[in-house]
Amino acid sequence: MALKNYNPTQTETWKKLTDHFEVSKNLNLKELFRTDANRKENFSVTVNDLEVDFSKNRITKETLDLLVELANEVELKDAIEKYFTGETINVTEGRAVLHTALRSTSEEPVLVDGKDIKPKVQTALRKIRAFSNKVISGKWKGYSGKSITDVVNIGIGGSDLGPDMIVEGLKFYKNKLNTHFVSNVDGDHVSEVLKKLNPETTLFVIVSKTFTTQETISNANTIKNWFLKSGSIFDVAKHFVAVSTNLDAVYDFGIDKNNVFPMWNWVGGRFSLWSAVGLSISLAVGFDNFRELLNGAEEMDIHFRTTEFDENIPVILALLSVWYNNFYGAETEAILPYTQYLSKLPDYLQQAVMESNGKGIDRDGNEITYQTGTIVWGSTGTNMQHAFMQLVHQGTKLIPTDFIGFKESLHGLEDHHNKLMANYNAQMEALAFGKTKEEVHLELKASGNMEKINSLLPYKVFSGNRPSNGILFDKLTPSSLGKLVSLYEHKIFVQGIIWNIYSYDQFGVELGKELAKKFLKK
Ligand code: F6P
Repeated sequence: MALKNYNPTQTETWKKLTDHFEVSKNLNLKELFRTDANRKENFSVTVNDLEVDFSKNRITKETLDLLVELANEVELKDAIEKYFTGETINVTEGRAVLHTALRSTSEEPVLVDGKDIKPKVQTALRKIRAFSNKVISGKWKGYSGKSITDVVNIGIGGSDLGPDMIVEGLKFYKNKLNTHFVSNVDGDHVSEVLKKLNPETTLFVIVSKTFTTQETISNANTIKNWFLKSGSIFDVAKHFVAVSTNLDAVYDFGIDKNNVFPMWNWVGGRFSLWSAVGLSISLAVGFDNFRELLNGAEEMDIHFRTTEFDENIPVILALLSVWYNNFYGAETEAILPYTQYLSKLPDYLQQAVMESNGKGIDRDGNEITYQTGTIVWGSTGTNMQHAFMQLVHQGTKLIPTDFIGFKESLHGLEDHHNKLMANYNAQMEALAFGKTKEEVHLELKASGNMEKINSLLPYKVFSGNRPSNGILFDKLTPSSLGKLVSLYEHKIFVQGIIWNIYSYDQFGVELGKELAKKFLKK
């Protein structure tokens, strides 16, 4: 059965939300906290090592109840079951959407075209483990008999951003292999990466679901030509492996059929890091850590699939985002990780969120007249505090923000970590509660700056009332990172369901590709 089809703005609950917005749009966070001593506890959800505090949002219990009612009215529960059980919810491409099956450890079969896909997933995982162990242990030899020291992932979009973000995110757990990423068709990118490499000790992982992507194939050919200046054509098999569905093209390239890792059309590129697309992750941090990443993601999958909506983290974050996007007219959301390790998370989420929900046609083929996909952007704390946070604090735009923090520091520099987390908390507090005229007045007075009070006062006021979520883990581990990514994947899903769009195709990237081919011929 297909996903339910409707115009969300015509639902009963949307009308109630519109009325509710009119009476509650001037809600003030300071006031909400003043009148509810337990607001933080009342608007927080904790699941093992993760605590999500959404109390600093412009909502009341009634808002949350209405948003949950909207989720129920659009039959979200039923859609979630379709998503997890392999129904063809990617209708425009005629595919199931089963990245959740890649990390599932349950015995429950998942059928695609009548066949259980779980055994295939397990076989692929065993192959990833065996291959990673061989390379990491040094048993895998290059053409001159030396072990591998460097791994280069050649791919773009979903075949690059996820693995790159996770390898960077889990750098603390890395082994002796150095991992590099080549994605851009700009020859300067590949040239810079090759400068650092020795062909005798480098392994290239070509990741391309289609094995036709211009950027990836151009980079792979350039790298092969570079390699052939020292190695022979018979050595290619020892230095190039592939992750793809297009086996003929992979074999034509010269890759040994034993060194091809599978991809499946029921896994979208931007959700594929859990598959063999994540081979460079398993190589960089070892298979056990890769498995932990999957386990963390599965933990979030189970939470999402089984928890009531008013306690369900991805559902709550998705609904809050709809609240700001569609009622407050907020167009962007900022993702602000307070760890340098997650510097690539905003880039990764830009593809995941914007390629998925940047759609203007609904599931019935109609042009959409309401707002859909948000623009996401961000950077790491505290660097961004010295960059764009001025606008978030005092600008004219409402920008809901996700602050992502970790209680424990990996390197144990307590002084640094205390300062980092003090800033994490301070930013959310400043956004929510601001600084009043009276407070600024007193401050200026206390500093003895009497003559400047009138001229400076308005500039020093913080209106506050700016929403944020605090997403706080105990520690950055493979498991917690898996959980975090899975959380955002499900948020994307929920929003796509509510907005009545197809989140899993990406036709919007095609026209540019076609035209580039024409320009290239010219
Ligand atoms: O950007 C479009 C896109 O199709 C992405 O969805 C995908 O992740 C990327 O290109 C790479 O595709 P492939 O893995 O087939 O090379």
